Amino acid sequence: MTGRKSFGSDNHTGAHPAVLRAMMEVNSGDAVAYGADEWTQRVTGRLCEMFGADGGAFLVLNGSGANVLGLSVLLRRHEAVICATSAHINTDESAAPERLLGTKLLAVPTPDGKLTPELIAAQLAGRGDEHFAQPGVVAVTQSTELGTSYTLAELRKIADFCRASDLRVFLDGARLANAVAYLDCSLAEIAECADVLTFGGTKNGAVGAEALIVMGGSMAADVPYLRKQQTQLASKMRFVAAQFGALIEDELWRGNAAQANAMARRLADGARDVDGVEIVYPVQANAVFARLRPRQIAALQRDWTFHVWDERESMVRWMTAFDTSDGDVDAFLAGIRATAAA
Ligand SMILES: Cc1ncc(COP(=O)(O)O)c(C=O)c1O
Repeated sequence: MTGRKSFGSDNHTGAHPAVLRAMMEVNSGDAVAYGADEWTQRVTGRLCEMFGADGGAFLVLNGSGANVLGLSVLLRRHEAVICATSAHINTDESAAPERLLGTKLLAVPTPDGKLTPELIAAQLAGRGDEHFAQPGVVAVTQSTELGTSYTLAELRKIADFCRASDLRVFLDGARLANAVAYLDCSLAEIAECADVLTFGGTKNGAVGAEALIVMGGSMAADVPYLRKQQTQLASKMRFVAAQFGALIEDELWRGNAAQANAMARRLADGARDVDGVEIVYPVQANAVFARLRPRQIAALQRDWTFHVWDERESMVRWMTAFDTSDGDVDAFLAGIRATAAA
C-alpha cells in the first residue's frame, strides 16, 4: 500500500463507521443463532419490502457465494447459464458455478458488459437437442463489471424476452446500489426484471454482507437448505444483519453509492482530456476503464494502486468507493497529468 487512496477496488476500502457502530450495538448479550434473532428477522423483512419480494431475503457472507446460491435456486440439473464473458461468475469465481452446480456457462462477448435479447436469442439454437446444454437461466450483472448500467428499459426487454422464452433471470447485484443511484430508481423497479437477485453490501460499506433476494414465493422453500449446504449460513447472523441494518437506515446504501459514482465521474471527466488517456466505457457506476500508453501506466503504478485490466489493450480499471473524496480524485488526477507531461 502507498498510504494513498487505492483506486484498485471498492473492496480495498474499509467499512463505513455506521456499519461498525451497528455491529457493536448488537454485540450486547446473547442472541439465538443462524438467523432466528430479532435483527435478522427485522432486516430481512425490510429487504423484502424494499425489493417487493414475496420469496424472501437470505443473508450470506460473500458475493460469489450469493451468486452460486442464487443460480442453484433457479437451475435444473441439466441446465446452462447464459452470461456475458465479462461476468464475475465467468471470470472471477474460480469456476464455482460450474464446479459446485455442475452447470455450463454459455459466455457471450458483449461490447459493454450488457446482454441484449438478441445476444441471448443467439444462444438458444441448441434448444430441444439432447446433445446441447439447455439454457435455463440468463445472468446479468447490474451495475456491470465494466462500470456500465443497464437502463430500466433494457432490463425490462430482457425480462420480457426471458419470460416469453422459458428462461429465468438471475441478477448479480454486487454493485446494485451503484446502478440504482445512477438510474435514480427504486430497488423494486430493478427487481421486477429478475427472478432471483443479489444485493451487495460489502462494496457499499459493509465488512462482509450480501443478500439473496428471491422474488417469487414458490421458489423460496429450498433456499434455507441450499444456503446451509453451500456453507453460507452464518451462525452469528446478527452481525451480518446489523451491517445491512446500518446500510438500510435512511438509505445510507444509496448515499454511499452516489458518492462512489460521483467520484468516478469526477475522475473520468478530469482524465478524459489528458494526453494519451482514452475513457473506454461510459461511466455509469463507480468504475472508470481507461486506455493509456504503457509507459504512463508504469509511471502511475509507482505511486498508485489500480488494476491493469488488459495488458495487451493497455487498459486499466480505476474504482472509487463510498469513502473516496474530491481530494483523493484530484491528487490521482494530478498523478495522471504528470504521466502525460513526463
Ligand atoms: C460483479 C461482482 N459479483 C460478485 C462479486 C463477489 O465477490 P466476492 O465473492 O469476492 O464477495 C464481485 C466482487 O468483486 C463482483 O464484482
